Amino acid sequence: MIVSDLNSALQPYLEATAQGQLFVLVDENTHAKCMPILATALADMPYMTITIPAGEEHKTLATVEQIWHALYEHHATRDALLINLGGGMLTDLGGFAAATFMRGLRYVNIPTSLLAMVDASSGGKTGFNYLGVKNMIGCFAQPEQTLIYLPLLDTLPAEQWLSGYAEMLKHGLLDTDAHWNTLLALDVNDTKCSIPSALLADNLAVKERIVAADPTEKSLRKLLNFGHTIGHAIEEAYHADGRSVPHGYCVLWGMVAELYLSVLCLGMDKQVLTQLSHLMLAYYGRPACNCKERQRLVEWMMHDKKNKQAGQISFSLLRAIGDGVVDQTISREQLDEALEYLFSL
Ligand SMILES: NC(=O)c1ccc[n+]([C@@H]2O[C@H](COP(=O)([O-])OP(=O)(O)OC[C@H]3O[C@@H](n4cnc5c(N)ncnc54)[C@H](O)[C@@H]3O)[C@@H](O)[C@H]2O)c1
Ligand SMILES: [Zn+2]
Repeated sequence: MIVSDLNSALQPYLEATAQGQLFVLVDENTHAKCMPILATALADMPYMTITIPAGEEHKTLATVEQIWHALYEHHATRDALLINLGGGMLTDLGGFAAATFMRGLRYVNIPTSLLAMVDASSGGKTGFNYLGVKNMIGCFAQPEQTLIYLPLLDTLPAEQWLSGYAEMLKHGLLDTDAHWNTLLALDVNDTKCSIPSALLADNLAVKERIVAADPTEKSLRKLLNFGHTIGHAIEEAYHADGRSVPHGYCVLWGMVAELYLSVLCLGMDKQVLTQLSHLMLAYYGRPACNCKERQRLVEWMMHDKKNKQAGQISFSLLRAIGDGVVDQTISREQLDEALEYLFSL
């Protein structure tokens, strides 16, 4: 929920936590930029800070172990409360560490990136990357609460703002023409532009509605993977050779290619593809993958855990804005054509 006073929003959770059992997970950046705000909100309540390295390359088992270790060393019991103060990498990892330590601790997410606010910190998916595959190990575990406090965005770097905006665009495409047009009308040049809290609430509500209807991703929730089949493959290609890239950029590139597939296979309105392609060229640039990597993208997609059958790639595509369809299998030729469109824009 969006809150205007972090201190009072936290009270019920702090009151239910014994002395010495409050833990705050931060990464290097959120420690420097966001912890001062949380520290003020926590007032006199003593807490133990656990600091992990920032960046998707640290979304690993080793970092999960670091969190388990710190909890153990500081005598966390099953009554402990973990506050995850960070972006989506941190809320995914912290949620997993909390869900598994002593078979489950309570945790509260306080997302600090736009992406985590509108997407990663709600819905209960937690986990980490393994063997180079995104989010391969994880579990569903709901936070006690997700507290969205917009002033935390003040220190967010511009490219991270764009990363979150990409996931917002995805929610717009899954919702209505009006929502999509409102998002397109935002002043993207002014990345410090504060997103109206009503728009943020509407955007998050799209995800929450879908998750409520299908919490464990049996069918409808797969719609939220729109853009992610190709997007994750691009993300893995970047990470495979040690390049960092914000998650939302990959999702945006993936959405361009998957919108192309939607136009090709399901008659989606081509104008929406044109709008998104222009936005990509204006703000996100093109994905930098060489020919060899492009060929490997299909291999990465084969590993996607959303695939129903080995050797077949499943996509969530759109017939129209707000009219998505899951479990679409397309031919290799169609996939090559979509990738060709993306890379030659
Ligand atoms: N669980 C889900 O449903 C779900 C959904 C979407 C994405 N994700 C995951 O979320 C991750 C991407 O999210 P992200 O981009 O927020 O990741 P992130 O946590 O890596 O944050 C991005 C960067 O911004 C920094 N940062 C965050 N907040 C800041 C602030 N207020 N001021 C200054 N710097 C700040 C972080 O330290 C980091 O360097 C991926 O791992 C992705 O798989 C999960
Ligand atoms: Zn995503």
